Amino acid sequence: MKPGHDRIRRGLVACFAVAAQLCAVAVARAEDGYRLWLRYDPLPEPAIDAYRARVTSVVVPSGSATLDAIRAELVDGCAGLLGRAVPAAGEVDRDGAVVVGTPRISPLIAGLNWERQLEDLGPEGFVIRSVKLGPRSTTVIASSGEIGALYGAFHFLRLVQTLQRVDNLDVSQRPRLQLRVLNHWDNLDGSVERGYAGRSLWDWKALPETADPRLRDYARANASLGINGSVLNNVNANSRSLSAEYLRKAAAVAAAFRPYGVRVYLSARFSAPIELGGLKTADPLDPEVAAWWKKKADEIYLTIPDFGGFLVKANSEGQPGPRTYDRSHAEGANMLAAALAPHGGVVMWRAFVYDMKPGYDRAAAAYENLRPFDGQFAPNVLLQVKNGPIDFQPREPFHPLFGAMPKSQLMPELQITQEYLGFSNHLVFLAEMWREFFDADTHAAGPGSTVTKVADGSLGAQRLTGIAGVANTGSDRNWTGHHFAQANWYAFGRLAWDPDLASREIAGEWIRMTLTHDPKTVEALARVMLESHEALVDYMTPLGLHHIMWPGHHYGPAPWWDRGERADWNSVYYHRADGRGLGFDRTTTGSGAVSQYRPPVRDRFADPKACPEKFLLWFHHLPWDYRMRSGRILWDELALRYQRGVDWARATRREWGALAGVIDAERHAAVAQKLALQERDAAWWRDAVLLYFQTFSKRPLPPGVERPRKTLAEYRRTSLI
Ligand code: GCU
Repeated sequence: MKPGHDRIRRGLVACFAVAAQLCAVAVARAEDGYRLWLRYDPLPEPAIDAYRARVTSVVVPSGSATLDAIRAELVDGCAGLLGRAVPAAGEVDRDGAVVVGTPRISPLIAGLNWERQLEDLGPEGFVIRSVKLGPRSTTVIASSGEIGALYGAFHFLRLVQTLQRVDNLDVSQRPRLQLRVLNHWDNLDGSVERGYAGRSLWDWKALPETADPRLRDYARANASLGINGSVLNNVNANSRSLSAEYLRKAAAVAAAFRPYGVRVYLSARFSAPIELGGLKTADPLDPEVAAWWKKKADEIYLTIPDFGGFLVKANSEGQPGPRTYDRSHAEGANMLAAALAPHGGVVMWRAFVYDMKPGYDRAAAAYENLRPFDGQFAPNVLLQVKNGPIDFQPREPFHPLFGAMPKSQLMPELQITQEYLGFSNHLVFLAEMWREFFDADTHAAGPGSTVTKVADGSLGAQRLTGIAGVANTGSDRNWTGHHFAQANWYAFGRLAWDPDLASREIAGEWIRMTLTHDPKTVEALARVMLESHEALVDYMTPLGLHHIMWPGHHYGPAPWWDRGERADWNSVYYHRADGRGLGFDRTTTGSGAVSQYRPPVRDRFADPKACPEKFLLWFHHLPWDYRMRSGRILWDELALRYQRGVDWARATRREWGALAGVIDAERHAAVAQKLALQERDAAWWRDAVLLYFQTFSKRPLPPGVERPRKTLAEYRRTSLI
C-alpha cells in the first residue's frame, strides 16, 4: 500500500474510532435514566408487527397546548415503539388511525354520541375503544376534558409499551382521588430537604425569564401517571415564596406545567403577614390578618389563575401557627381557606403535629391535637395525614386518624423520598409498603373500612379527596438518584390514580417500560422489587422497631442515641431496651396510644399474642425470652431477622450482577454500585443494632447469624455518611 493510502487509511480508522466513540457516548447518554418510563424504544421483534397494523396514524385536532402535547407524545411514542414513522393526520384515511379528543373539539368524537358517559367520567377520565369510523378500524381515545384525553393517550402508550393487546379495546377509567399531588421540600436556595437526587429542579434565580426545558419533562412524566399537582416549596416554608417576585417565578413554572394538567401549589408560612406584610401578628382571628391573606390570595390568582392552593405545616417542629395565638388548628386552616375559597383553592393542612408534654407518646400526639376538631374544618380544607403516626418509618401501623374523623376530609401523605429508608442508595420498592397501608382495615364503619375507602371518600361524606407524596426528584440526570427509585415515583402516581392497584402489576409495568421486556428478567426483577421492602425492614427495624436511625440525617443505625434535646428525638425513647426486654408499651399499661384504634383493631394490637409480629415492638415491651410464633425467643428471632435482611441484600447484589448484558451497561453499573452500598449498610445495621441490644439481652447470637465485623464502640463512633 502506498504511503499516501496508508495515511488515508489511518485517517479513516481514526474517523471511525471517533464516530464509534460518539455513538458510544450517544448510547451511553441514552441510558442515563433521563427518559424514565417514557423511553419508547422499539418493541421486541415478534410483537412489533401486531402493533404496526393497529397504529398507523395519529388524528388529534389543533387548538391548544395540551392537544399539541397529546399529538407530539403519540407521534413520538408510537414511532419509537414501532420503529417507523407514525404520521399525524387531519382525518381518518386509513385503518389503524388513533383518534384523540373531546366531543367539543373533535367532530369525529362528537359523532360517536358518547357525551353522557364521558361526562360521568369527568374531565380527567377517559375511554379508549376500538371502533369503526366509517369503513376504517380505529382506536378512539376520548374524554370530556383535554387533560383526560392526555391521560388516555398515555394509557394507550402504556398498553403498547407493556405489550398488551390493543385490537379490541374497551377501557374506561377515572382517577379515584381528586388531588394527586407531589410535595417538594425544596428551599429557595436550591437545596432540597431530605432530597437525595441532587439540587432542586426549580432554578429560582433564572426564573421567570428562563424556564428550564426540564420543567416540561417533569410535568410530562407526572401527566403520564395522572399526577395533577405540585407543591413547589418546602413545608418548612420561607415567606418569600409568597412575595410578588417569587409569585412571578412560580407563574413561569405553572405555565410550563399547564399543558400537562399539573397545577402549582405553594407551602404557606403561617407568619407571612408579619414577615411580608409588616403586621404585628399572624393571629388568624385578627381581621387585619384575614384581610392580608385575602389580598394575598387575590394577588396569587391574578398571577397564577389556576393556582391550586396552600400546604401548611403549622405548630410543628418550630413552625408558626394558630396555636402560637392560642387559636385552634381549625381556626387557622379555615382563615386561609376563606381567602382561597372565592378562587376555588384548597388548604392542605398537615396533621404532623406533636407537642411535647409530660408522659407524652409522640405516636398519639396528632390524634390528640386534631381529632377534637372533627367537623370543624371548612369545605375546602383537607387534613394531610402521614401514613403512620410517627414519621415515615420503614414500617408503621396506619395512622389512627384514618377513620377517626368521619366529618373531615383526610388525604394521606406518603414519602417517596427515602429519608429513613436508605436515601437513594437502597433499592426498595415502596408500593408494597403503601399497599399494606391502603389495605389496612380501620373498622371505622365495620369490617372492610380500609384506608383506601377513607381516602377515596366512599366511607364518609368526603367531597374533596386527595393524596400527597413527598417527591424524590432532583437535578440528577436520572431524576431520582437510584434508577430503581424512579419506580417509587411511578408507583405513587399509579396508586394515586387507583389505590387498589396491585404492587406486582405496578412493578411489572415499570420494569417493562423502563428496563427490559425479557420475560425471565421481568419476573426476576419483579420478585426482587416485591421482596425489597420486607428485606429492608428486616435489616433496619424488624418486628415493629422504629426511629433508631442516626440522628439528624437519619442514615444508618444509632439505637444508642440519647442526647437529643427532646426525649422524642432520641432512639432510646422508641425502643426502650432494658435488662428485661425491648419495645414501646403502647397498651394501657404503657402510653395507652393503642386505644386510638377502634375495636377490634385496638384489641388485636393490644394483645401480644394477637398483634401482627411486624408491629409487636411498636405496641409492646416484651422480655428477651418472649416466645415468638416461630417457637424462637424474641432475641433469637430479632437477630435472625437482621441476618435475613443481609442475606437478601447479598443475594440481590449477586442476582443483579448476573444480569450484566441483559440490562444496558450504564444502568447496570450504576445499580450495581448502589447494591454494593446496600449490602454494606445492611450488614452494618445488623452488627451495630445487635451489638448494642446485646448489652441488654446478655445473650449470644443464635446459630446462623454472622459475627459482627467491628466493635460496638466503632459503630458508635462512625456515621455511615
Ligand atoms: C420529618 C423530616 C423533616 C420534615 C418533617 C415534616 O421530621 O425529618 O425534615 O420537615 O418530617 O414532615 O414536616
